[in-house]
Amino acid sequence: MNVYFDNAATTPLDPEVFEAMKPFMLEHFGNPSSTHAHGRRVKAGIESARKKVAELLNCTPGEIIFTSGGTEADNAILMGAVQSFGIRNIITSRIEHHAVVHTLENVHKHFGAVIHYVDLDRNGHVDIAHLESLLQQNKHALISLMHANNEIGNLLDIETVSQFAEKYHAYFHSDTVQSVGHYRHDLKKLKIHGMTAAAHKFHGPKGTGFKYLRRDKKIIPFLYGGSQERNMRGGTENVYGIIGLAKALEIAYRDMDEHTRIIKGLKLRMIEKLRATIPGVSFHGDCANLEKSLYTVLNVSLPEADENNMLLFNLDLKGISASGGSACSSGATVGSHVLAALYPGSKRGAVRFSFSKYNTADEVDYVVTRLAELTGVLTRI
Ligand SMILES: Cc1ncc(COP(=O)(O)O)c(C=O)c1O
Repeated sequence: MNVYFDNAATTPLDPEVFEAMKPFMLEHFGNPSSTHAHGRRVKAGIESARKKVAELLNCTPGEIIFTSGGTEADNAILMGAVQSFGIRNIITSRIEHHAVVHTLENVHKHFGAVIHYVDLDRNGHVDIAHLESLLQQNKHALISLMHANNEIGNLLDIETVSQFAEKYHAYFHSDTVQSVGHYRHDLKKLKIHGMTAAAHKFHGPKGTGFKYLRRDKKIIPFLYGGSQERNMRGGTENVYGIIGLAKALEIAYRDMDEHTRIIKGLKLRMIEKLRATIPGVSFHGDCANLEKSLYTVLNVSLPEADENNMLLFNLDLKGISASGGSACSSGATVGSHVLAALYPGSKRGAVRFSFSKYNTADEVDYVVTRLAELTGVLTRI
């Protein structure tokens, strides 16, 4: 059996999305900046994609800027906000994605802004009281806290953080790359200034994403060049990527309730089967708490054992694609900064399984059995 349980890394393209993209690959090839009919046809496609995304997120089309993906969107907002508003203090956590971690390190290096790390509780959730005290001490700060953690699945109480941001006059950016397409965001209600998305996390094409920039908090452009993307990002647009992104988001919203129910069921099944099969198994972060955790991600924590070092390799040999990272860095394996921050010194094994609408209960059962074999449980009992 071949099982793809690495959907937090990327998801397979939905064939319906591919059908929507095809005409913009083969027939509608004009440059959207050209004023003739070939160009106008393509420009209209981009603008209707923008309108669709804005409708789904309940914001205005002018607030959606298409990008090459999540990394670019995070870079653009963080660097743009610091330069535009002369921000001196940044509040973030130690478990952000590298697209945020490394950008902020560079913002510190080049613009001198000071980084403050908010405390996390024992399950990896942001300590809201500490966040408030950091905000009290540092008014007009930049807050960058992700909505859904890509490794351990923890969900941020994004509404509470947005209210704090308003109260303390902070600029609030959230990396929402893992949650867009899986949860509904109402940007008329949510007091957030910048958020990000990548189409390939919700069955759209790779190399395309967007940033949401609230209208009343304008930041400087990221790429200078032509007047594309309302002068916010120069360069000929990734036309079929943008068309695919909008179609993928439309499908994600259309089918969200049903897919959420099915995927949650898979995650729950895996939790129960693992608990019944592998003694001492637990789950990193707050993964097993379905209310406070991304339903597509399950990060399994395995008792310390020599077999753990080769686990991902051995799963791969059995046809299972998953991802990992342990708290410590050993040999060629670079450890996970997220697990290292939450479980310093831990030698437990870590495997992240992440699910999509294309996965099945049979696949879960297959993976649990193989994992039990590989961790030595089935040979011991
Ligand atoms: C939380 C998070 N942010 C940012 C990114 C980067 O997105 P992209 O690879 O589209 O640049 C990812 C992708 O893994 C992610 O999971």
